[in-house]
Amino acid sequence: MTQHRKQVILGAHFPGVNNTTVWSDPASGSHIDLSSFTHFAQTAERGRFDFLFLAEGLRLREQRGRIHDLDVVGRPDTFTVLAAMAAVTQHLGLAGTINTTFNEPYEVARQFATLDHLSGGRAAWNVVTSSDAFTGENFRRGGFLPHAERYERAEEFIATARELWDSWPVDAVRADGADFLADASAGTFEHRGKHFDVAGRFSVPRSPQVHPVVLQAGDSSDGRELAARSADAIFSRHSTGDGAREFYRDVKGRLERYGRRPDALKILPAATFVLGDTDAEAVARAAEVRRQQVSPQTAILLLEQVWNRDLSDYDPDGPLPTVDPIVSEASSIVRGRARQVGDPAAEAARYRAVAEAKGLSIREVVIELTGRQTFVGSPETVARALEDAVATEVSDGFILVPHITPGGLDEFADRVVPLLQERGVLRRDYAEGATLRDHLGLGAARSASNWGTGVSAAHGASTEPLRTGVGASA
Ligand SMILES: Cc1cc2nc3c(=O)[nH]c(=O)nc-3n(C[C@H](O)[C@H](O)[C@H](O)COP(=O)(O)O)c2cc1C
Repeated sequence: MTQHRKQVILGAHFPGVNNTTVWSDPASGSHIDLSSFTHFAQTAERGRFDFLFLAEGLRLREQRGRIHDLDVVGRPDTFTVLAAMAAVTQHLGLAGTINTTFNEPYEVARQFATLDHLSGGRAAWNVVTSSDAFTGENFRRGGFLPHAERYERAEEFIATARELWDSWPVDAVRADGADFLADASAGTFEHRGKHFDVAGRFSVPRSPQVHPVVLQAGDSSDGRELAARSADAIFSRHSTGDGAREFYRDVKGRLERYGRRPDALKILPAATFVLGDTDAEAVARAAEVRRQQVSPQTAILLLEQVWNRDLSDYDPDGPLPTVDPIVSEASSIVRGRARQVGDPAAEAARYRAVAEAKGLSIREVVIELTGRQTFVGSPETVARALEDAVATEVSDGFILVPHITPGGLDEFADRVVPLLQERGVLRRDYAEGATLRDHLGLGAARSASNWGTGVSAAHGASTEPLRTGVGASA
């Protein structure tokens, strides 16, 4: 008897400004052309991925007062890109990162409901709260909110959006009778809360998923709690080993108090991969990729984020600076979300210890101590490692970030995906249903009033998608 294996959930992270990208590779293309997004999304769909994933930055990062090297590719608007991708794919989920600190629920709910209609039920929202006032300067007076209040607002934001999505009853619209509107109250809503005091009519009829899939990215206890209470999945940076298993246990352990089963929240870390014909070839390739990712100027930029000083006069092939890092937050050389360094003095000491022990230059020590490729090996090795990670509760799947745009996913789709399918851990077709909720095995959305009340989807009054009438979707 064949045993049912736990399926590997796969997201495809379009790299954008991410410093995974190897810019010097001749295959490296535009990060903003429609053709790049199209190629990437269609490859993900060919590889039977669950969803395309876009991160978001609402302000380009700066360092030493200049736009960060990687950010010169720009940050196009998430909804516009995802709407375009809805037109060139049929099954792939479309996940966009949208901030709850600088937006309003009505507008965001409207945009996601629209995307859900346009895509036939494939929309997903990665909720972020943002980590810096620098971004906030673009949007709000005072720039920012304290950490705990950002999460409080996020919680209420999601709840309000769900109320709006629910505001059009099933079969509210009919195209056959004299009266198009079957339910006179369709779209009416009223939300009176600490952060949002809104009432009116929602402008988008019930969408195929009713509630787009909600992911959360944020690592603190508050962030994890928000995910446990209000999200369908969590995007994390814990991709390997015991650290990842600990994260998995911690987050899944938070679900019970909200009456949720462990599989109601999917844990999806970011991961990178490098393939080769043999494991040895992949290891050599991974080392070369890492060298290319940390170019001489990138090495200095990354080191400046630890030292919090202008180090542009230093030779990347020379020794580490003898001056100490500047610890004061107020004089940060980096503006905008970047690699976070908790204790610069301790981090600098670690750099010095490793550089001294191994006789490394600046560039070499940065390569040694920053980012690793998560999966390195032959296609067989990587397929096995992915299956093992999911079977041993490292995660429920991965959001893969290739190092070449737009073609970096091709090799994975051609060489690893067939092996995952042979192993019975990845779909051969999108047979589970039409929507992203179906693909992720999330079941029907439950109504807004059933979230956070300890009523699980299995027992709660689940909402139903619009099936007939104007605006109905197959
Ligand atoms: C894996 C991961 C991915 C994130 N991606 C984004 C992003 O694309 N855009 C963004 O504005 N913030 C992003 N964030 C930032 C979070 O929204 C959050 O503001 C930040 O992590 C601070 O919250 P925390 O203390 O709970 O981690 C990400 C965070 C994590 C952990």
